[in-house]
Amino acid sequence: MFKRILVVTLAIFMASPTIVKADEGMWLPMFIKRLNEVDMQAAGLQLTAEELYSINQSSLKDAIVVFGGFCTGEVISEEGLLLTNHHCAYNAIQSHSSVENDYLTDGFWAMNRSDELANPDLYVDFLIRMEDVSDRVLEEVSDDLSEAEREKAIQKAIKAIKEEVSKDNDYIVNIKSFYEGNEFYMFLYERFQDIRLVGAPPSSVGKYGGDTDNWMWPRHTGDFTLLRIYSAPDGTPASFAAENVPLTKELREKNDAFYHHLPVSLEGVSNEDFTMIWGYPGSTDRYLTSWGVRQLLDIKAPTIVDIRDLKLDIMNKHMDADPKVRIQYASKHARTANYWKYFIGQSKGLKRLGVYEKKQEIEKDFQVFANASKANQSKYGAALGLIEEAYGKTNETERGATFLAEVGIRGTDAVLFTYRAHRMMKKWMDTEDPESKSVALEELNSFAEAHFKNYNAALDQEQFAQLFTKYQAEVSPDQHPSFFAYVDKKFKGSFDKYAAKMYTKSYFTDEGRFYAFIASPNAKKLAKDLAYVASSSVLQSYFGLGSLNAEANEKLGKGNRLFIDGLRKMNPDKTFYPNANFSMRTTFGSVGDYVPADAVHYDCVTTLDGVMEKYVPGDHEFDLPQRMIDLHKAKDYGPYADENGDLIVNFIHNTDITGGNSGSPVINAKGHLVGTAFDGNWEAMSGDIAFEPELQRTISCDIRYVLFIIDKYAGATHLIEEMDLVY
Ligand code: ARG
Repeated sequence: MFKRILVVTLAIFMASPTIVKADEGMWLPMFIKRLNEVDMQAAGLQLTAEELYSINQSSLKDAIVVFGGFCTGEVISEEGLLLTNHHCAYNAIQSHSSVENDYLTDGFWAMNRSDELANPDLYVDFLIRMEDVSDRVLEEVSDDLSEAEREKAIQKAIKAIKEEVSKDNDYIVNIKSFYEGNEFYMFLYERFQDIRLVGAPPSSVGKYGGDTDNWMWPRHTGDFTLLRIYSAPDGTPASFAAENVPLTKELREKNDAFYHHLPVSLEGVSNEDFTMIWGYPGSTDRYLTSWGVRQLLDIKAPTIVDIRDLKLDIMNKHMDADPKVRIQYASKHARTANYWKYFIGQSKGLKRLGVYEKKQEIEKDFQVFANASKANQSKYGAALGLIEEAYGKTNETERGATFLAEVGIRGTDAVLFTYRAHRMMKKWMDTEDPESKSVALEELNSFAEAHFKNYNAALDQEQFAQLFTKYQAEVSPDQHPSFFAYVDKKFKGSFDKYAAKMYTKSYFTDEGRFYAFIASPNAKKLAKDLAYVASSSVLQSYFGLGSLNAEANEKLGKGNRLFIDGLRKMNPDKTFYPNANFSMRTTFGSVGDYVPADAVHYDCVTTLDGVMEKYVPGDHEFDLPQRMIDLHKAKDYGPYADENGDLIVNFIHNTDITGGNSGSPVINAKGHLVGTAFDGNWEAMSGDIAFEPELQRTISCDIRYVLFIIDKYAGATHLIEEMDLVY
């Protein structure tokens, strides 16, 4: 309590012009000096802005990477050791697993470098620097351009900047829109593609609590995995090769790049301690309007949940029946279940916290501002009207669009595989140059191999038949993909019959038939292939969505851009942070308990005792390996216990994160690693749309639990030795 009072007084004395809450906000690293340094130091941080983000010397940001394009990772040793979440590396762990070598169930530990496993699909990106390019991107843009003209001018400028910047280097250049098209920032990355699996706990640790505990506190999950970044022997990025070596500081510096690895702290955290998180939050919608909230609550979220209920039932049935299918579909199942539960929680939260009404209040104030002067009127007067009209229009098609995405595109494996494989086949056949031809064939083959490895025809057929039957029954016919008419005509409207034929005859639904077909492709046969018919029709509808709603989308884009611009002008003393868009951000706050419901109080840490309390032998979510039970019984926690002799497993803090931040480092006031962030909490699932300071918590895995698992559970002490352990 004392600390909190101190923080508030300091902030007042320093008369910081930006009165922002310490907890809410995903801040851009290049602005820390200007916007956050004072607040962060007042909250306890002992480092300077320059030590956090610098383009002139090695800084903390050099330890933070994009992991695979969907998560965050951090460097934790001098030899490229990388920490992220178990659920971020889940796909990779699955890809090395089989019924005989089930690393998902049993965990995996490379006891020396040569055992570390390559993952051709994984990469990490280091951020070299970022830059505000708004002036250049918007140079040719004026208020009297139409939305289409505006977009064209923006794309032209972006293209020119990209060409200029990438002239004499191999950096990946990314220019992103911020504040709904009001500002633009450029990001330069360096990509490393040889990322090897080093250590993963068994799922009974890494995914302990499964879907029951997902998105929930109190939590007891060891959600971490270790990997290693490899480079060519000279330290430059390279795809997998036996001669590659672990990336080191020395190699990095030889290439004029910076390297930073986070020291690993044994200190732990206490209530109200300062923490910050660095990483890549994927997407938030904090400026969503009331109309957007309504559409989400009334149409999109319930439709997704309903469709996924059915999808998950079918997956569960097949996975329970066959251990091979259980491994094949582990990652797909986790992905589907994760956002199934997310949308359930989000809707509950939005309703309970009255977010729709709160948004209406904001819009009322905005309209007063928009009417306050002639100038305001002409710039902002129409903004909300545009947004309302746009949603009025898309409300009519939202249910169909959700079915199209959830059933048509993502509902089965066959549809998307057919689309992609066909595209690759065309590329291969249309190419004349023998070398490009063999590269294209190679691509097609490895794509097909990866697909069929995790494909079960019986499961996919059942999903196809049931999901499309639902689509047919619940979406108005004018929004059906065109092949529904063909199903009516030739299959008496029965998707069961269509699926039965498609999964026994199509070239795309069976590995043997597929390879036989590409050995002698035939355009006539292809045109009659039922998977091809379904897939081209679904994709055609999908790509048609944009033009169907073009007018509404333009209105929405323009309305949102003006709305946010107006909100910022309306509150000139408030610092607005941009929505998450998978660019590097930092957020800071403190460790803290919360009150989830009347008369209920949640503590801010969980312990291994709590893991044992939840233990259900043989259960697929709450089983434990015997070794964990033994270690708990012996209280053999080594240096990883806290001052009471307990082993802390997870903790919560009020930092502001979202999906994409998974795997992010939790860093203390000294810049040391104290945990890895992996989830949000149930009572604040509406957080991506409205931050709730009293309720919203990040759930992180205590780094001492990670160390305990590596050391005491797995005996992989060589990994502990390469870290810098500090107090
Ligand atoms: N909710 C977490 C996230 O979106 C994923 C946790 C994975 N665990 C699980 N039981 N599915 O980052």
